[in-house]
Amino acid sequence: MQLTNEEQRILDGGGGEPQRLALQVLVKLGEACGAERMVEIASAHLVASSYQIAGEAGIAIYTQLVEQGARVMVRTTSDPGSIDFARWREFKTPEEYAARQVKIAELLDRMGVIPTWTCTPYTTFNVPHFGEHLGWSESSAVVFANSVIGARTNRLAAYVDLCAALTGRVPCFGLHLDEGRRGDVLFELEAELSADFAEHYFPALGYLVGQVVKDRIPVILGIRRATLDQLKAFGAASAASGSVALYHMVGITPEARTVEEAFGGRIPTERTPVGRREIDAVMEQMGASEGPVDVVGIGCPHASIDQMGRYAALLEGKRVHPNTRLWICTNVVVEAMARKMGYVETIERAGATLMVGTCHNDCPLEAWGFRRLATDSGKFAYYTPTTVGTECVFASTEACIRAAITGRVERR
Ligand code: F3S
Repeated sequence: MQLTNEEQRILDGGGGEPQRLALQVLVKLGEACGAERMVEIASAHLVASSYQIAGEAGIAIYTQLVEQGARVMVRTTSDPGSIDFARWREFKTPEEYAARQVKIAELLDRMGVIPTWTCTPYTTFNVPHFGEHLGWSESSAVVFANSVIGARTNRLAAYVDLCAALTGRVPCFGLHLDEGRRGDVLFELEAELSADFAEHYFPALGYLVGQVVKDRIPVILGIRRATLDQLKAFGAASAASGSVALYHMVGITPEARTVEEAFGGRIPTERTPVGRREIDAVMEQMGASEGPVDVVGIGCPHASIDQMGRYAALLEGKRVHPNTRLWICTNVVVEAMARKMGYVETIERAGATLMVGTCHNDCPLEAWGFRRLATDSGKFAYYTPTTVGTECVFASTEACIRAAITGRVERR
């Protein structure tokens, strides 16, 4: 790889041991992936901020780095932790477990990481610009930054993201290059589906697309309009069921004004038609059983202020069923604004609980003995059976909130 004088100085130890080690890791990664050079990044986002992911090994690594004087070189934010720092006792989190997460928080703080504890850093203090290079992990955030904003980041692994933060650089390959951002597979919505595309089809379509493309780049034709929350839901599902890090939605996302632009001038060689039958089939797969539900989990990825307002409107004057929990995941910034706007009061008056800075998939929930979780999130639907250990039912946001109120999930 071609290194600049500054990069060579860092590699020679001129920036201290944490930077030297971090750059060494990035150079090895770049060599393995055919990068010719490094590229400077505007920000980093770290996934091993959660104790569930970092574990004791992560604490040991962070401790050593802090002792060696490590500091992040660019704006760096943290993914959800394994506890709600304010409410962990309410979630029956063991004291020792919470203490380990607090320890990680202290160590990240000493390295200069902004404690956003969110998978939607772009709703807080890490808002990329179009065309900027980033060093991000967290699959749902990576796919949003690439696809919706048009920033450029590969899907970094835990600790590689920290190496990026410590050096302010990543190896330039894959999604950092124009040729790495061209579409591979065209998904064409049939006219009937396109004309009547319901909100909960976004995560369902994302789930389907991820299963088909794995880590290739899908191009979706036939969606007429989409909100940021719908694009967020689509991307998170595709990044979970596959490992999509960039998608193009023709006429909606910034690098796909036309099909030609999305494919970088190439002719699509693979076309997949999608109709209502395919959407119905994937929703069955995501979980479609009816009946009593122990817990309803919404806000995955973390709820925006618009979503919080909608939850409050749906819960106004209602009461969550005594046998069911309604847990709403969001970040501390959105929580503060939602509180100011009266949404939190309405939500809590209805008996729902906010889960701030964490989520069902990150917290230890064995103590609850849940059997069935309902969600409107494709990502939760994908991970819940293994991470929470319950059966999962996928339904629309309205159906999820209805299930929390009646204690039963009914078909959408
Ligand atoms: Fe975020 Fe947890 Fe979902 S990290 S994307 S709320 S699984």
